Amino acid sequence: MSNEVLEKILKNRRSQPQQLVEVLQDVQEAFGYVPQEAMTTVSRELGVPLIEVSRVAHFYKAFSLKPRGKHVVTVCLGTACHVRGGSKILEEFERKLGLKAGETTADKKFTLETVACLGCCAIGPVVVVEGDYHRHTTIPKVGTILKKYQRGKKPEATTQVAKHA
Ligand code: FES
Repeated sequence: MSNEVLEKILKNRRSQPQQLVEVLQDVQEAFGYVPQEAMTTVSRELGVPLIEVSRVAHFYKAFSLKPRGKHVVTVCLGTACHVRGGSKILEEFERKLGLKAGETTADKKFTLETVACLGCCAIGPVVVVEGDYHRHTTIPKVGTILKKYQRGKKPEATTQVAKHA
């Protein structure tokens, strides 16, 4: 973790506890996660108890407390996606990536996550990678999606759906 980057994030925000969420968002964006060391510094510099910083960092799904991979794959396991095979899609990602949901590959290329509902149930099962919504995902499509991101290209057949908080 670079202290200079953290210093830049905190500039003009010291002793402003109301800036907590924005500061944590900037930390997440800069480092790819919210390191424990950063939480301690943010707590001290904003004047927010460390337990409150930790609570906020744990509460919002946008914050990760562990380093994430370059590509975050989110598989929806909400009811509508689940009944259309969402769990099987998740198992296929786990099998192909050699990890479990919540983990990151050793080469730091992929992190696999799940979500309860993305609010676009009609196009389920839904998988989101880097903001791209993959609709009606099937087991054969899992390999196609991964291969294209491994090559650094985005799959063409994606659906643009407004992002949900
Ligand atoms: S259940 Fe998957 S988008 Fe709603």
